[in-house]
Amino acid sequence: MTDADFAERRARARAKLDAIDPHKREGGVDADPQRREWFEAVYQFAGDDPAGVPWAGLAPHPVLAQWLEGRSLAGLRALDVGCGLGDNAEALAKAGARVVAFDLVARAVEWARRRFPQSAIDYCAADLFQAPPEWRGAFDLVHELYTLQALPEALLPDAARALASFVAPGGMLLVISRARDEGQDVAGPPWPLTRGRIETLAVCGLRLVSLEDVPASETIVRHWRAEFRREVDR
Ligand SMILES: C[S@@+](CC[C@H](N)C(=O)[O-])C[C@H]1O[C@@H](n2cnc3c(N)ncnc32)[C@H](O)[C@@H]1O
Repeated sequence: MTDADFAERRARARAKLDAIDPHKREGGVDADPQRREWFEAVYQFAGDDPAGVPWAGLAPHPVLAQWLEGRSLAGLRALDVGCGLGDNAEALAKAGARVVAFDLVARAVEWARRRFPQSAIDYCAADLFQAPPEWRGAFDLVHELYTLQALPEALLPDAARALASFVAPGGMLLVISRARDEGQDVAGPPWPLTRGRIETLAVCGLRLVSLEDVPASETIVRHWRAEFRREVDR
């Protein structure tokens, strides 16, 4: 298999998935407001071919990989939100964290488990908006990459509260997203986030401690990398 074969299958999959995405159609949003059916369809249509999953890089995302360089997560409890095929969760585990990784789509979770049969990661199917109560305040590091930007803007306040709820006292939320300027039109989905949108994730006791504007390079578009902290209760 060549890179060109993969790219061609990816392009075909994208075209097919765009064609069935109600959010790409005028007035179609009511059909699938949270995009659940569409996410299910992505993994179903892909079968066993990762080219069919538009965001599957089959490697940790470079903006996360750079953040992890020289950093130990030894002993930390980490949660990977919307884990897809598992590459980012595996990178967190490789850095030493004990990882729980979840996705709305059971098929994605099964696929991640199959890809990493020796993994110590607890892969599970769950919904960000109805997460298990035992995850409340249970993680030293909550990592989310590309799920927020895949959700309609109206869901972001609920998503922000859900993400914040997982962070233990003294813990961190790490968000990585494609970036866009305020007022810049976007033909989503996905909907790259504005700086203002990132700032609104500081809810329920989380404080924004760093917001990096990662410039576009030969291999990636412009991104945000944001860290939020929950103070230790006194
Ligand atoms: C754009 S993909 C990113 C996947 C992964 N983070 C990556 O970068 O490869 C978004 C993922 O979030 C999942 N997702 C969407 N809504 C979700 C929800 N409510 N709860 C959990 N996962 C969700 C999708 O199934 C999909 O795998």
